[in-house]
Amino acid sequence: LETGCLSIIVLGASGDLAKKKTFPALFNLYRQGFLQSSGVHIFGYARTKISDDELRARIRGYLVHGKGGPPHTHSEDVSKFLQLIKYVSGSYDAEDRFRLLDKEISKHEISKNIQEGSSQRLFYLALPPLVYPTVCKMIRRFCMNKYNHGGWTRIVVEKPFGKDLESAEKLSTQLGDLFDESQLYRIDHYLGKELVQNLLVLRFANRFFLPLWNRDNIDNIQIVFREDFGTEGRGGYFDEYGIIRDIFQNHLLQVLCLVAMEKPVSLRPEHIRDEKVKVLQSVLPIKSEEVVLGQYEGYRDDPTVPDSSNTPTFATVVLRIDNERWEGVPFILKAGKALNSRKAEIRVQFKDVPGDIFRCKRQGRNEFVIRLQPSEAMYMKLTVKQPGLEMSTILSELDLSYGQRYQGVTIPEAYERLILDTIRGDQQHFVRRDELKAAWEIFTPLLHRIDDGELKPLPYKPGSRGPVEADVLLSKAGYRQTHGY
Ligand code: BG6
Repeated sequence: LETGCLSIIVLGASGDLAKKKTFPALFNLYRQGFLQSSGVHIFGYARTKISDDELRARIRGYLVHGKGGPPHTHSEDVSKFLQLIKYVSGSYDAEDRFRLLDKEISKHEISKNIQEGSSQRLFYLALPPLVYPTVCKMIRRFCMNKYNHGGWTRIVVEKPFGKDLESAEKLSTQLGDLFDESQLYRIDHYLGKELVQNLLVLRFANRFFLPLWNRDNIDNIQIVFREDFGTEGRGGYFDEYGIIRDIFQNHLLQVLCLVAMEKPVSLRPEHIRDEKVKVLQSVLPIKSEEVVLGQYEGYRDDPTVPDSSNTPTFATVVLRIDNERWEGVPFILKAGKALNSRKAEIRVQFKDVPGDIFRCKRQGRNEFVIRLQPSEAMYMKLTVKQPGLEMSTILSELDLSYGQRYQGVTIPEAYERLILDTIRGDQQHFVRRDELKAAWEIFTPLLHRIDDGELKPLPYKPGSRGPVEADVLLSKAGYRQTHGY
């Protein structure tokens, strides 16, 4: 990684997201040698009035090794990393504090004797979107990279980008007035997951899939996200958004794009994103009868959730893509909190074999499953002869479980990759403005019907599969449960 003089500025440095995701990801990059050049410096900015050391102490506890592992034992690395961090406190509209922040960054740049063109400033907004416009204005006015010949200033923002089409467009315009699209990195952390990144390779580098990946061969596709815990202290935030804004509009739609898109002209970010936008624009309006909403019992017991909340914590929605490849193939999107398991997977179910001489229809169909988490894996369910004297068949599987196949390989956290991409200036795994707009266009009418109380969530028991009505919708859409795996 070639960095000149790189300053990473985390705004909202004392908040949850920064502590749990941003700083640990930066630390993991550091440990792998990416941020170790003497030109790299990290700045934290937030309202809390604390010293550098107090911020470092707060972060230290979160620097764990890998996903949820034991606290990191390389304490020397931890200490060296923490020494890179300086802190400036101030409110998000305080001109003098942003001037001070700029002074601190410049001091660091000057001390490194930077050459023109090597000043790089990465602003990571680990903040609620409400303050994005104000903070971006401050950055624009006081903290831009001063060396215009080849250096850069980039802004990373986190969802939620708005609450519906109108508010998202407003936010996009506000940020677009301040920064060029090439400077804005809208994170959807699902795009940083290993098996999500694998989708393009799988689809376009394997002869197996090319001729089969269409309406002639595929019966239905499911994209599923389940969590086995509820809103856990985030009730206040969640209730304003609900599962459709929290998971469908971003994570599930991004996965859908990669599953459904046409082959891009090349791997250039613009070519890939052009194809994704086309998929989103081809999605037909959602029909109310192809939606099931749920809310787990006990959700409203959270003191931060209003007693009358109509917010769904679960949904199953059928999307239909009106193009040559996918007409007639339902894409069943399903996500929920407080369900019976934690899992995210894509299930591609193929049509029955015509002329079923083995009578294997009863056993189930060919299915290709990509498990994004936990335990990354992909497997293909296929019918084979049951070993033995009889000529009978059984549904078995070809299984590629990453834990077994790639033993000892650490799969990087989504945030690590995405921050690295930002430093490298690669926008492939970030959401472009027109993509965001097209995604909101799909869900906004449904969201307004929910917000108006026209559609109501059905109750379901925490720890269950969600409302049974969702399973009914699933089978109506053509999904057939297979046995075996
Ligand atoms: C976030 C949502 O974007 O994704 C959370 O706001 C959700 O509600 C989380 O829990 C899930 O991420 P992951 O990586 O654990 O699947």
